[in-house]
Amino acid sequence: MHIHKYEKIWLTFGIGCLIVFLTVVGVSAFAAGQQPPSCLTTIDPEKVDTTPPFDQPGLVKKGDNEYELNIVVAAFSFTPNAIEIPKGAKVTINVTSKDVIHGFQIPGTNVNMMVEPGYVNSLTTTFDEPGEYTILCNEYCGAGHHMMTARIKVVE
Ligand code: CUA
Repeated sequence: MHIHKYEKIWLTFGIGCLIVFLTVVGVSAFAAGQQPPSCLTTIDPEKVDTTPPFDQPGLVKKGDNEYELNIVVAAFSFTPNAIEIPKGAKVTINVTSKDVIHGFQIPGTNVNMMVEPGYVNSLTTTFDEPGEYTILCNEYCGAGHHMMTARIKVVE
């Protein structure tokens, strides 16, 4: 009879642990869903021009040597298409598309991301080397794809 009692206690304990575990997993998954990572930030592609920060695209100073670069991408241009960045600046680049999927690549740096309508894609990089950089669209997006470029100038 005593053994049976202990079995019951352990069984209850085991089920209790399982419930606690599942609750923790469920709650943390829900909490994570409430605060999606930046790559999952959504935006209405029809309202890009009136949605901050894309209503005023360009470079924004966020702190000591920290900047945010917001770029609107559409067939077949980047807005703005000429950007000056101070050397050594830590820049978070946010991009979104108003139409189809484009690419956003800066050869000579680690910057290479997809630009998708409906989403804001972000990447943080530091521009340590002064000089001229080119932003390229590396996803085929139509007749003007090969002309889709912009310039970044990193200045001392
Ligand atoms: Cu935009 Cu290719």
